[in-house]
Amino acid sequence: MSHVFHRMPADRLPTAVAGDGPYLIDSEGRRYLDASGGAAVSCLGHSHARVREAIQEQAGRLAFAHSAFFTNEPMERLADHLVDAAPGDLDRVYFVTGGSEAIEAALKLAHQYHQEAGEGHRRYFIARRQSYHGNTLGALAVGGNQWRRKQYSPILMDVEHIDPCYAYREQQPEESDEAYGERAAEALEERIAAVGADQVIAFVAETVVGATLGAVPPAPGYFKRVREICDRHGILLILDEVMCGMGRTGTLFACEQDGVVPDIVAIAKGLGAGYQPIGAMLCRPPIYDRIVEGSGFFQHGHTYLGHATACAGALAVQQTIAEEDLLTNVRDKGALLRQRLEARFGNHPYMGDIRGRGLFLGIELVADRGSKAPLDPALKLHGRVKRQAMEAGLICYPNGGTIDGRLGTHILLAPPFIIDDDHVEEIVDKLDQALTGALGEAGL
Ligand SMILES: Cc1ncc(COP(=O)(O)O)c(C=O)c1O
Repeated sequence: MSHVFHRMPADRLPTAVAGDGPYLIDSEGRRYLDASGGAAVSCLGHSHARVREAIQEQAGRLAFAHSAFFTNEPMERLADHLVDAAPGDLDRVYFVTGGSEAIEAALKLAHQYHQEAGEGHRRYFIARRQSYHGNTLGALAVGGNQWRRKQYSPILMDVEHIDPCYAYREQQPEESDEAYGERAAEALEERIAAVGADQVIAFVAETVVGATLGAVPPAPGYFKRVREICDRHGILLILDEVMCGMGRTGTLFACEQDGVVPDIVAIAKGLGAGYQPIGAMLCRPPIYDRIVEGSGFFQHGHTYLGHATACAGALAVQQTIAEEDLLTNVRDKGALLRQRLEARFGNHPYMGDIRGRGLFLGIELVADRGSKAPLDPALKLHGRVKRQAMEAGLICYPNGGTIDGRLGTHILLAPPFIIDDDHVEEIVDKLDQALTGALGEAGL
């Protein structure tokens, strides 16, 4: 009997014992091609020698020194590396241990930014339906997935949610991509007007929506318009790149492709690639300067901020990505995977949409391609696909509730940046097998 309080106590899980590049190996010797990096985490695959050595070397020298007493070399070097690569003037990095902590820090920093200017009365974050920002209470409150929020709603802070930018379901047939981007951004302008601009702290959004919508990129011009609206009203723009950042979409920061610089950006997952638990928040000088010149410090903190071993691991991950030019592979293999998915599933009777950027791809399944009617949620197709995929030796990340937290089914793919053409074929073949098995099991 296990004494672990597992996520899903009823599930019987295999025991992972080793990694081999893009593969995970369980205690029975079964190999799984990790085509989702867990949840878009393992961007270098598993058991990467350089990262392993960097962690061992740092742990041997100095594992941890509390950040209230010391700085440390790997943290300083990792901050330099990220700031050199970051868009615009994002130039301060606050290191935490994961995505939810990065979002909590971003929310509190945004509040303190206004408070330092005598505007601590501002109380609203505006965010979007069907986004996921983490499971701690602040992050859950800005998140817009009804299924995840529902049971905690009595204890969540008030957040204003607008519609996501979700072309497959929201764009009108006669509307151009640009016109749709403009219209979707207008929802922010309208909500600011309704709430009162002087009451709003920040707008929070995933640049490319991950787990809850299934790799949905913004329409062209959407974030440029959002940036302009935020600037005009003195509202901060917080981008959540916990899942889509750190190269996943083909550029280190996803927002580079949208031509915008957020005031604060949260990163995690691919930062440490699963080798160490680490996340971070980057901010621009007007925010850092106002706080340092005001009260002098950010009223926040956790024990493991800037953990030396975590930073050393993440630095080795980021250096590997840069020195081996892995983002070129993300773009090339991302285009190939998308093309192969379209060739295999383009005419599939249950295929609604294939979308995404780089090696961050989503497939939305529907009951009817013409009307886009969702599959019956009682079929729990996403759970069946996950199980069937594992049986076929594939890890993918299917989810339900794509449309409103209850209806809708998608599969997220986020394979490691090191995959080759053969891995692409293996992903498509095994996914086909899993989908056929799952649909058959569901009686479809
Ligand atoms: C976009 C986004 N933000 C925040 C989080 C929360 O990160 P963590 O699970 O590391 O706390 C996630 C996790 O999936 C995420 O996808």
